[in-house]
Amino acid sequence: MPKPFSRLVIATHNAGKLREFAGLLGHLIPEITSAGSLGLPVPEETGTTFIENATLKARAAAEATGSLALADDSGLCIHTLNGDPGVYSADWAEPGKNFQAAIARIQKEMGDAPDRSAHFTCVLVLCWPDGRTESVEGRVEGSIAREMRGTGGHGYDPIFIPDGDTRTFAEMGETEKNRISHRGNATKLLLEKFAALL
Ligand code: IMP
Repeated sequence: MPKPFSRLVIATHNAGKLREFAGLLGHLIPEITSAGSLGLPVPEETGTTFIENATLKARAAAEATGSLALADDSGLCIHTLNGDPGVYSADWAEPGKNFQAAIARIQKEMGDAPDRSAHFTCVLVLCWPDGRTESVEGRVEGSIAREMRGTGGHGYDPIFIPDGDTRTFAEMGETEKNRISHRGNATKLLLEKFAALL
């Protein structure tokens, strides 16, 4: 039976994300491109939830191209900080993608709070050209280390210790992290839920 969609647009301007999703979904859809490669503008992330932001990015890409589009939104939620930095995870590192400063702010705001639990979340939204959307959410539970450890990964990885381990994400290899990470879990769910629809 012919596949209903020949092209998927990943709603990102990040070449790494395009590569990652192309690797995961390439066997399901013939052409995978990105909003960045097509020269589309970066939509403003005005939502207050992960799903709102992922939906507005996916919808903007689907509307601009008439293609099926996929967007993600992710962040670190610290329970004693009422879920902060959450959807503002990237903003806390501005200006200059300064995660040392963002991590210092987290440690300051947490102080001696006994509850150091946190989770990373990743929401993926697929938007069809007719505006219909479907979403999945992947999470990884863990806790915030008192000091930065490790040199791998990116962002908040040096302070996130996934449950069941003593190392931070930055002390793990990329393959090991992806096996248990919020993004890894979300993409597994996406494949399960959408393989039949693509
Ligand atoms: P997004 O690209 O709008 O989803 O923003 C995600 C932000 O959340 C990034 O800038 C990082 O600050 C943070 N983040 C998301 N996933 C991870 C991760 O796996 N490790 C470390 N930081 C992450």
